[in-house]
Amino acid sequence: MSEAYRQAYEDSTQDPQGFWSRAAELVDWSTPPGAAHDEARGWFPGGQLNTCHNALDRHVAAGRGDALALIHESPVTGATRTWAYAELLDEVGRVAAMLARLGVGKGDRVVIYMPMIPEAAFAMLACARLGAIHSVVFGGFAAHELAKRIDDATPKVLLTASCGIEGTRTIAYKPMVDEARALAAHRLDSVVLLQRDRLRAEMTPAIDRDWMELRAQCAADPVPAPVPLASDDPLYILYTSGTTGVPKGVVRENGGHAVALAWSMANIYGIGAGDVFFAASDIGWVVGHSYIVYGPLLVGATTVLFEGKPVGTPDAGTFWRVVTRHKVTAMFTAPTAIRAIRKDDPEAAFLHEIGTGPLRAVFLAGERADPETIAWLERHSGLPVVDNWWQTELGWPAITTCLPLGDRRRKPGSAGFPVPGYHFAILDEDGHPVPDGQSGAVTIRAPLPPGAFRSLWNNPAAFAKNFATFPGWYETGDAGYRDAEGFLHIMGRTDDIINVAGHRLSTGQMEQIVAAADGVAECAVIGADDPLKGQVPVAFVVARAGHADAAAMAARVIAAVRVDIGAVASLKAAHVVAQLPKTRSGKILRNVLRKLAAGEAVAIPPTIEDPAVIPAIQAVLAADRAAASG
Ligand code: COA
Ligand code: AMP
Repeated sequence: MSEAYRQAYEDSTQDPQGFWSRAAELVDWSTPPGAAHDEARGWFPGGQLNTCHNALDRHVAAGRGDALALIHESPVTGATRTWAYAELLDEVGRVAAMLARLGVGKGDRVVIYMPMIPEAAFAMLACARLGAIHSVVFGGFAAHELAKRIDDATPKVLLTASCGIEGTRTIAYKPMVDEARALAAHRLDSVVLLQRDRLRAEMTPAIDRDWMELRAQCAADPVPAPVPLASDDPLYILYTSGTTGVPKGVVRENGGHAVALAWSMANIYGIGAGDVFFAASDIGWVVGHSYIVYGPLLVGATTVLFEGKPVGTPDAGTFWRVVTRHKVTAMFTAPTAIRAIRKDDPEAAFLHEIGTGPLRAVFLAGERADPETIAWLERHSGLPVVDNWWQTELGWPAITTCLPLGDRRRKPGSAGFPVPGYHFAILDEDGHPVPDGQSGAVTIRAPLPPGAFRSLWNNPAAFAKNFATFPGWYETGDAGYRDAEGFLHIMGRTDDIINVAGHRLSTGQMEQIVAAADGVAECAVIGADDPLKGQVPVAFVVARAGHADAAAMAARVIAAVRVDIGAVASLKAAHVVAQLPKTRSGKILRNVLRKLAAGEAVAIPPTIEDPAVIPAIQAVLAADRAAASG
């Protein structure tokens, strides 16, 4: 353990007030906070600041207006565009003026349903400038999910684009927005739509505004000044899968978020002014919020907004081209992306040909980083590949190896050590710490550090539930253990959430949709292991009498989930079986289904009601596999 890491960790746990007061100096406050923390008001009570000012204005004021702030690298359109800090401030100011013209002000919500284009980042920062609360909805979610978020966040305005470009396909966004508007009870004042050349959308009179026309109309409007906000005023709401069909609106507060991200850029990623950071995620996820938009800009670095996939746009060399072309010093992606690259380019020929330029490390998060993937990338790149464990709720990494603090300890299969600010315990069902090496519930001591959630939008009961099982401790929903050397290992979820290609989805929600499909008597949805995506959702369905066509039933169920949640939640398969494996008390044996789906041998559990169910399901799986490959 390095001395710097040991000291930082000790300071953060033994003197959190002092530790975070010093960290608070990394950002500009219009009114400095009176203390680091109080129970009622959270982090930096009494402090006032503006996140957009901290991300843009202050760097320009410090004479860095010409420094590069944003690079939009879009292999799907062939475009590369860049903005210096002064230019980005100008663009954000324009969008802030547009929103102000539409009546958006402090505390109003704005939903952003946009692909990976620079206007999406301008919009987020413009909301931050006005004190409006943005809620970005991932483009892979369809109309129903968008409608749920519109009803929960009750935005004045929705910002969108005519289309997204997914690999070689063009995805029309406007029909989803129209359908979501029809489904939602809440009425939007306006929809502002950016027309893209690839596919232009039909505008709906009275509600739709053309982005560029509105921009031109507001050209002479004064640029709104950054609104001073209380530290605990919300910056954004980001919805994530809970264990029911109702999405959880994680609320991020301005003060704690700015301080935590600025601290993390320096102490986890080693990034500051002059560095280029490339987070290959999507602004619809927390990684995109923290490390495409806010984190790099808060510290005056350059950020890369990448509109493409790790493979196929045009090939498995695309990441390495971005890295070398823009002199990226640290990059961030999901293990799935590296697995996809490895699948297409097993010998890393692209990486060897293109190189990694000044890249110092690769950070992985979003799902378990399997040792083989880490080893492959380290072998071919010669760089440290560092796992990060965190969640939407936390907003920034909680377990990793802090390279900038001199720590070098890494162990494949472990996410690393607690980040300063996070105090972990691994607890058994009764809330007692388990011995090292033994698995239990991964919990974090309350209060959580700055940046982590302190509420869920409109849902205090669901928020309180996170702290109810183990009073004084936040239940992360993950299971894991600490080994004898102190490494933390995350083993998976304790609830029904699964991770598909780094995307967090709820099998419980999918089950509700499948159960409601025509002809379904009973069902179970599980996360089956997948060599590329980590996990994929698979349904087991029992049909009602009179619904004998298994292929039609499977197609119906798959389509229902895709329509209700979106393309990102596609079921890999739906198997129509005569019965589900259950205990005598009627509980579905999901672990058995998981093993069956993986083609593993299954020991007959002693609690099973009818052991004959297992060979019957194995026969269905074999027949379905044969049909799929034939
Ligand atoms: N807008 C619209 N549709 C989207 C979308 C978006 N932003 N993102 C994904 N989708 C669609 C995809 O087009 C695909 O649709 P299809 O079933 O019609 O083909 C579906 O959702 C599933 O997408 P995905 O899981 O991304 O699979 P894929 O086969 O398109 O790509 C990978 C596979 C591995 C290349 C891709 O999953 C990937 O890049 N993963 C890394 C994920 C990541 O960075 N996650 C962020 C967490 S840090
Ligand atoms: P999200 O909120 O979408 O970031 O998903 C958070 C969940 O993803 C966590 O609770 C974990 O289950 C999983 N996860 C994220 N990062 C890792 C990691 N590095 N290792 C293992 N699981 C991870």
